[in-house]
Amino acid sequence: MPRYRIAPSILSADFTRLGDEVRAVVAAGADWIHFDVMDNHYVPNLSFGPMICQALRPHTTAPIDVHLMVQPVDALAQAFCKAGADWVSFHPDASTHVDRTLQLIKAEGKKAGLVFNPATSLDVLDWVIDKIDLVLVMSVNPGFGGQSFIDSALRKIERVRKLIDGSGRDIRLEVDGGIKVDNIRRAADAGADTFVAGSAIFGQPDYRAVIDAMRGELARTT
Ligand code: DX5
Ligand code: ZN
Repeated sequence: MPRYRIAPSILSADFTRLGDEVRAVVAAGADWIHFDVMDNHYVPNLSFGPMICQALRPHTTAPIDVHLMVQPVDALAQAFCKAGADWVSFHPDASTHVDRTLQLIKAEGKKAGLVFNPATSLDVLDWVIDKIDLVLVMSVNPGFGGQSFIDSALRKIERVRKLIDGSGRDIRLEVDGGIKVDNIRRAADAGADTFVAGSAIFGQPDYRAVIDAMRGELARTT
């Protein structure tokens, strides 16, 4: 069985108690903390910046998985590396020079990822798969939590899985958007190994119950 990771998105957490929320969700079994950065330019919403990441860093030893939905990318990518992020991912269509942005993240000693929207082609992977540590497949259009899973993401995950396996590299395949207990298994069967979930976890009072139910689905043999 792949090493599955559950990455709750704190976009759906209680912003008045973010430190408590991070500690609670990690205590409930979360593997990573997913940090959605929105700039009201690349996406039509505004969330949080590197200062919040830096403030949260002492609250957990869990990896912080930064998802940049910003344009331009480079300055913020570097700022998040310095603010304690472990993984920094960006949308290739938001970067003028994708290879350079990847180099900036790697030079900071961080893991680098590329994010693909539902209608974005995977072509860029042909040229940089040797330089990345993660591929994030969006299963909603970025910008908001609580949207419904777009089924075509499953085909895209299958295709990325083939590319990753063919590369022979250790690259995580993450899926983000509309992941719930009742569809996480389909994403895993398509080839995902890392699962972002915002509203499904933070929308329930018992985070452990949701995370355990997700792990139960992932472990199911039939
Ligand atoms: C969307 C974000 C997602 C989102 C996930 O732009 O990248 O991480 O918050 O939220 P849910 O799980 O509620 O779809
Ligand atoms: Zn995200």
